[in-house]
Amino acid sequence: MPVKRPEAGDLEHIETASRDEIQALQLERLKWTLRHAYENVPHYRKKFEQKGVHPDDLKTLADLAKFPFTTKADLRENYPFGLFAVPRTQISRIHASSGTTGQPTVVGYTKKDIDTWADVVARSIRAAGGRPGDICHVAYGYGLFTGGLGAHYGAERAGCSVVPISGGQTERQVHLIQDFKPSIIMVTPSYSLVIAEEFERLGIKPEEISLKIGIFGAEPWGKGMRTEIEGKLGIDAIDIYGLSEVMGPGVACECIESKDGPVIWEDHFYPEIINPQTGEVVADGEKGELVFTSLTKEGMPVIRYRTRDLTSLLAPTSRSFRRIDKISGRSDDMMIIRGVNVFPTQIEEQILRDPRLTGNYQIVLTRDGHMDDMEIRCELQREISESTGKATLVEISKVLQHHIKTNIGVSTKISIMDFGTLPRTQTGKAVRVVDNRPKQV
Ligand code: DLL
Repeated sequence: MPVKRPEAGDLEHIETASRDEIQALQLERLKWTLRHAYENVPHYRKKFEQKGVHPDDLKTLADLAKFPFTTKADLRENYPFGLFAVPRTQISRIHASSGTTGQPTVVGYTKKDIDTWADVVARSIRAAGGRPGDICHVAYGYGLFTGGLGAHYGAERAGCSVVPISGGQTERQVHLIQDFKPSIIMVTPSYSLVIAEEFERLGIKPEEISLKIGIFGAEPWGKGMRTEIEGKLGIDAIDIYGLSEVMGPGVACECIESKDGPVIWEDHFYPEIINPQTGEVVADGEKGELVFTSLTKEGMPVIRYRTRDLTSLLAPTSRSFRRIDKISGRSDDMMIIRGVNVFPTQIEEQILRDPRLTGNYQIVLTRDGHMDDMEIRCELQREISESTGKATLVEISKVLQHHIKTNIGVSTKISIMDFGTLPRTQTGKAVRVVDNRPKQV
């Protein structure tokens, strides 16, 4: 079913189509995706066969529940390019996000995928109230992370003038916002508050800042944070959701007129909510783990990808597509620190590079102002704990800090403790993460 292309600034036909039309399109695209994955990715063919399913078994959308899930482990096993469904020479972009260990999770896009991605981000920007001619300040990180380039191509597609400043250098960010007068900013919610504080420090009031719209995602943020950001920057704060494995930013985005949860661009991404323990699909409105199947991706289709994000599917409001509720947590132990996804196992891997440290460690998360801080508490081996001089302790901390920064990308505080100091549990299941950050409301 062809999707009518709108004039710039209009809604696309499919955004307000009937549910019947949307579901017919989803079914057609789902059939194509299952076949494409089955025929071109040995891993999917094997998994389908193990489960005794074939793409022809999909007659209705509900039949998708018969197909196997895909997880980060599948991506790891097929590292780096094993899940590509087209010859590598047709892949025009590669991104990567955190794996659970040092090996990143790799994703690949064809030219058409990049085009689709630009379209859904442009649609997100329009939903957020952006229009052609707006200046868009992109302060998501550029690079392997999908935030910067994903936002960038979408903003260009939406007809904006894009300022690709990337993250960091807060004073410079503020300087350029004052000089270029962008109306849109795309950045993580926590970093937007750091920028807001720099404005405050300079005595610049919210009404004197040119920004009108902020498009925030890559980490969870609650209603309290929305009020704070809107007040401090004098803008409408819009929630954009996405993940690299499914596409990047722009899988779902809120509409400015309702601000009632990100609208899933259901013509490209098919959502399900499952019970994370049993894997059973639950009804709309019920809470569980969000699962996505791509509907149009050529380079790396994903079938029932378990996002690990906990939320529920909400009925359509401003568009004909369903929405997601605020992400309330995860069904795994991934942490998002200053926008960087971190798994405890990645930290453990770096600790264990130093034979003077035991594998017993604890990660303590706190919030200083608006930014998350991570302290890593580790233990010395028994035989060296008492005799170790201060200089050696400093050296161990510095090396570990450096390894974590260069391999995982987060800055940490390291505390080296004597053998036996960290708590041990009777059950043997260590508490690796102590999260002392205030709860998002
Ligand atoms: O964070 C893509 C992105 C970039 C989205 C910029 C929005 C804006 P990953 O690095 O793969 O991709 O991390 C994906 O981040 O599974 C969620 O846990 C979390 N996340 C992303 N957006 C939101 C959001 C990008 N709006 C993981 N609210 C996801 C809550 C979010 N969590």
